[in-house]
Amino acid sequence: MSYMIMFRGVSRFLRTNPVSGQRSMSQSSLVGKVAIVTASTDGIGLAAAQALGKRGAHVVVSSRRQANVDKAVALLQSQSIIVTGTTCNVGKGEDREKLVQLTVDQCGGIDILVSNAAVNPFFGNILDSTEDVWDKILSVNVKSAFLLTKLVVPHMEKRGGGNIIFVSSVAGYQPMQALGPYSVSKTALLGLTKALAPELAHGNIRVNCVAPGIIKTRFSSALWQNKDVADEFKKQLSIKRIGEPEEIGGTIAFLCSDEASYITGETIAVTGGMSCRL
Ligand SMILES: NC(=O)c1ccc[n+]([C@@H]2O[C@H](COP(=O)([O-])OP(=O)(O)OC[C@H]3O[C@@H](n4cnc5c(N)ncnc54)[C@H](OP(=O)(O)O)[C@@H]3O)[C@@H](O)[C@H]2O)c1
Repeated sequence: MSYMIMFRGVSRFLRTNPVSGQRSMSQSSLVGKVAIVTASTDGIGLAAAQALGKRGAHVVVSSRRQANVDKAVALLQSQSIIVTGTTCNVGKGEDREKLVQLTVDQCGGIDILVSNAAVNPFFGNILDSTEDVWDKILSVNVKSAFLLTKLVVPHMEKRGGGNIIFVSSVAGYQPMQALGPYSVSKTALLGLTKALAPELAHGNIRVNCVAPGIIKTRFSSALWQNKDVADEFKKQLSIKRIGEPEEIGGTIAFLCSDEASYITGETIAVTGGMSCRL
């Protein structure tokens, strides 16, 4: 076989086998997709909305406060992102239903859910945490993630498939000191991802999770604002800096794109090399 014939054969193989060859730009495109991102008026949620919106998705942003929603909508519009905004406290059933219904009514369907909201009302020894603390943390961080999933799945099935992303934490793999109940709630999301993925695969719905390390947001400010505390954390990192919300947003957008078409039931740790798994 001459070199030329072999080359033609290889290039034809790469064109017809996208998994083996270079993928085209269009596979990262989310044009025509509708994406709900919870807790998306700040931090990681806002960055996820930006990343999905920049790839062409119509994003639905929400959080508890109308003023925060208005600010996020204005910011995303200024970046030419197609955006709809509404208030939604994910811990409230009526708010979750309103969010899903509004999305279907105003955007025509749902293709992507990024379940990003979480609370942490407790710092201290785990044995000092109360039933109220556990109820709050499990309700917002875990139960609402599942119940929102249950609400969106029928709409994704109508569209022929979709993507669900849970935002866990490095603390889900290795509980952080003084953050016991929160860490356990984040471990539960790793399990939820694995429990849902096989059941939803038949409907062409992929379920994945991201586990951020320490990312520069208001939520984690106690971990990076004080230089001594931040330096202590940096010792555990291969990349010696605190992460940026956009670095999580990009990973989420990748998982929602066709470039990740064979990934489901997986959690990607985005931690700057913080050791948190085998
Ligand atoms: N930052 C980190 O280092 C880090 C590391 C690992 C995992 N995470 C996870 O990343 C996710 C986002 O955290 P973040 O650091 O981006 O936080 P953030 O910058 O403080 O943003 C929090 C967002 O959540 C909204 N929010 C709070 N409670 C809500 C509720 N009950 N329902 C709906 N929205 C709510 C807030 O807006 P309103 O006040 O208007 O509601 C705001 O938009 C969380 O799941 C967190 O556990 C963060």
